[in-house]
Amino acid sequence: MDLGRYRAVIPEWSRFLEAASRAEPTVFRVRTGRITPDALADRMRAQGYRLRALEGMPAFFQVEEGPRPVSLTLEHWLGLIYVQQASTGVAAPALAPRPGERVLDLCAAPGGKTTHATDLMDDRGCVVAADVSEGRLRGLLGNVYRLGHTGVFVVSGDGRDFPDGALFDRVLVDAPCSGEGTLRRRGGRPPEQSASFMRYVTRAQAALLRRAVRLTRPGGTILYVTCTFAPEENEGVVSEVLADEPVELEPLSLPVPHAPGLTAFEGRRFDPRLEGAARIYPHHLDSGGLFLARLRRLDDGGTRGGRAASEADAGAWSRVPPVFPGDGMESAEAETLVARALEALDDHFGVGAGVFGGMGWTARGGRLWLHSLAQWPLEAWEPGRWRPLSVGFRAVEFDTRGRSRPTNDLLQWLGRVVVRGAVDLETSELVALLDGGAVERAEELYGLLALRWSGAVVGRGVATSAGVRSEVPRARAADLRSVITGKGSVTPTPDDD
Ligand SMILES: C[S@@+](CC[C@H](N)C(=O)[O-])C[C@H]1O[C@@H](n2cnc3c(N)ncnc32)[C@H](O)[C@@H]1O
Repeated sequence: MDLGRYRAVIPEWSRFLEAASRAEPTVFRVRTGRITPDALADRMRAQGYRLRALEGMPAFFQVEEGPRPVSLTLEHWLGLIYVQQASTGVAAPALAPRPGERVLDLCAAPGGKTTHATDLMDDRGCVVAADVSEGRLRGLLGNVYRLGHTGVFVVSGDGRDFPDGALFDRVLVDAPCSGEGTLRRRGGRPPEQSASFMRYVTRAQAALLRRAVRLTRPGGTILYVTCTFAPEENEGVVSEVLADEPVELEPLSLPVPHAPGLTAFEGRRFDPRLEGAARIYPHHLDSGGLFLARLRRLDDGGTRGGRAASEADAGAWSRVPPVFPGDGMESAEAETLVARALEALDDHFGVGAGVFGGMGWTARGGRLWLHSLAQWPLEAWEPGRWRPLSVGFRAVEFDTRGRSRPTNDLLQWLGRVVVRGAVDLETSELVALLDGGAVERAEELYGLLALRWSGAVVGRGVATSAGVRSEVPRARAADLRSVITGKGSVTPTPDDD
């Protein structure tokens, strides 16, 4: 789409063009559930990074100078930061989720806004993260695990057919779009889109937003977001939904510079309430572009679709069971596995059961998943083409002799809580282990180990008569090697979108 069509509606046009043509600075968000922004900034500054805290955006820093890409830092590897455009960092606070709430992210991959919302909720409540793309879902899972989020339930499927049965306090629709707001990644040129894509995408956006309205409890919040400037995909879609769905537009007042939503464009009129939506242009935050509109679900008493919303929701949320539905294991067996896992964690690593207070374990495929979901909606969902993928993260597996082994994700998540069974490695020793070798150590070591480098637990190892070996899987080991040596690259984590 030719940007010139926006000349009449984008304020400060020359600033817009100037920002759009420049490369975008790197910005990251601190995973505040694991480290404070001040402590993280100190760690990065000690490595030579010059950072600027973003005004109005707690936990966001712009990298002004640094020795290497932040994706190659130990902090990124450990899941203490998420590389995220400043513009997209406005969305989760505008959704305003609170600890304990039920939140649905209908187009979640690769997880920038899901993980931000979950962090704002302190991993308490339930965040259902859904997406239709299997490839992008893999990126989402990687990010949820790396950041150590226990409060996310990931499901695969088309958001337009998301199952009925349970209602959410807040639903985010970060819709697929023509992506004009990502133009800085292409030297200021917006992506080319065909007319048929544009027809498809505007229909899909409206269908996703309508579905979101139906899945929100009366009084709940729906946030519609795109990263495009095109009014047909923004004000046009929201106007259409405002006209015939039980919702009201809630004006946004954002803590960062932005422009109001449009009420008319190229002769087309939109609902005048759309002035309360927000448009973020590249010059506002020296970032990408974003459109946001917040809606409140009204109580229509069920007049527009079967039973009243509150009635439909009664009893829909239930405790996450000790065995994943359909797994076939008996609950008693799962409880035995949990007891064995807790005993082994205490024996090997000095990690007491108290560390997992308030959390749940669910057995699936002979392994244990650790999560902090208060309740979930799975059992209320009608069978369909929806597939649950993960709840929290895979934390414990069992070897052929039935011995419990914490996953690399769990050991990293435990980090400093590991008080025994850790071996501190020099860089050369860790490199040798990651290359598949063994390392002799003077101290007597036996069995499972936590491998520690630079004060951080980076994975699982084992001590044998041949010395210490790494049990970090190959792809992950290659990434870690790049991080600790500063050479090579890491598997691109699609942090941003
Ligand atoms: C803008 S991206 C989402 C970015 C993500 N929210 C984040 O913050 O990292 C839009 C996503 O919508 C997904 N998508 C497209 N059509 C969909 C559909 N019908 N149902 C669910 N997800 C869909 C795409 O796979 C893509 O991951």
